Amino acid sequence: MYKTLSIKTRLLLYGIAIQAGVLLLFGYSLYKTLELSSKERLQTSLKVIVLDIYDDLAEHTQIEDIELDEEGEYEFTPLFMRVSRVVEGGLQTVKATAFPEEVASVEPSKLPLRKVRFSQSGSYITAALRVRLAGEELLIETATSYKLLNDTLKNLFYSLAFITPIILLFATLGAKFLIRRSFAPVRELITRLRGIEANNLSSRLPLRGSEDEIDALSKEINGVLTRLEEAFERVSQFSGDISHELKTPLTAMRSELEITLRKPRQRQEYEEVMRSALEEIGTIEEIVHNLLFLSRAKLQRNLPKERVELGTLLSQQCRLLQDQAQQRGVALRLRGVGEVFVRGYERLIKIALYNVIHNAILYSDRGTAVAVTLGKRGGRACVTVSDEGVGIDAEHLAHVTKSFYRVDRSRTRHTGGSGLGLAIVQKIMEQHGGKLELESQKGVGTVVTLLWE
Ligand SMILES: Nc1ncnc2c1ncn2[C@@H]1O[C@H](COP(=O)(O)OP(=O)(O)OP(=O)(O)O)[C@@H](O)[C@H]1O
Ligand SMILES: [Mg+2]
Repeated sequence: MYKTLSIKTRLLLYGIAIQAGVLLLFGYSLYKTLELSSKERLQTSLKVIVLDIYDDLAEHTQIEDIELDEEGEYEFTPLFMRVSRVVEGGLQTVKATAFPEEVASVEPSKLPLRKVRFSQSGSYITAALRVRLAGEELLIETATSYKLLNDTLKNLFYSLAFITPIILLFATLGAKFLIRRSFAPVRELITRLRGIEANNLSSRLPLRGSEDEIDALSKEINGVLTRLEEAFERVSQFSGDISHELKTPLTAMRSELEITLRKPRQRQEYEEVMRSALEEIGTIEEIVHNLLFLSRAKLQRNLPKERVELGTLLSQQCRLLQDQAQQRGVALRLRGVGEVFVRGYERLIKIALYNVIHNAILYSDRGTAVAVTLGKRGGRACVTVSDEGVGIDAEHLAHVTKSFYRVDRSRTRHTGGSGLGLAIVQKIMEQHGGKLELESQKGVGTVVTLLWE
């Protein structure tokens, strides 16, 4: 139930609870302070009066002569006074002013001499003093009623009980207003966010310039929107590229087939068209295969890495490509092959090595060499593939690792592939915590470095 409440309601409830707690604590301490200080004041007054009576008694030779007129003197009401003689078997009242019957006298034997003692009985508080005067033992008592104090406390209690809910009510209304005001920008934010859809990711939340939490949140959301927009654009671009890449061989195949079917032809002509169609299908297959690989690359991240020896893999891949290199008149050389171990996925590393060596052979001129070197750089395993081929212009170099990016857009089966090779290598190196580095100069050659973790 609590979890389903809005933050506004929860804040309000917290506020009410805290305020109610504070008000109750304040009321209670006020009440207690007043009670204790009033009691202390009463006791002090009673003590002063008891001592005053004692002084009076000391001045008179006849105890019966004294007058108990302290009520008027101290303007202290109600004040009850009693002077008694301590006699064998009890007390004998000498003088008293309407001393209440229900106030029992203290047992004199329990009182130390000349020390004022307070006691409480019923709604009365009493101060008693035992003294010895002219060979006689006397007990002086003063008492007053709690009634006045009780009334005052009762009034205070009623005032607090009345005023506390009113304060609480106003505080709650104030808090509600403030919370509403503070949350207004959040409401506005929500309304604006609701209006943002996949096709208008370019809209941004306005900043109020207040540099507060709402502005910070808007900035963060704008950052997310920017990243989303970029990712969305990349995806759109990617799908556009895929369609384009697949369309090219399909269109070629279609027109070739259509032209062929226009009139009856020789068997040899049909065979040629079919071979050409097969080649285009091969291209489509390769693109689809590479695309599948790129999209699945993410899933492989959870697999455990194994210990892989790079030297053996490099030799394997070079052997695999040796024929192609020879056909193209490129000398493929492998150098520095010792045992270099990395942690990774053997199948993926093979693909990465194949792709970069294949590129080096493919984009090299007849009579040039491709050097593949295995070594270490800063303690990290490192494979470099350098060629003396066509090289890549600085303006293209930063883009060649993007999917479908080719320097020479006019692709033929002989001069290049679909532009996915380096994107795949980049992904594989990322998965190994390593990186792909490219250095190139147009017309001079290219050095591709694969650096492991
Ligand atoms: N060693 C190299 N020398 C010169 N240019 C290169 C080299 N390697 C890559 N390139 C350029 O970078 C582009 C992208 O390379 P990538 O390997 O990603 O795609 P591709 O070789 O065209 O196709 P795929 O590898 O998918 O069959 C190439 O089209 C080529 O223009
Ligand atoms: Mg390639």
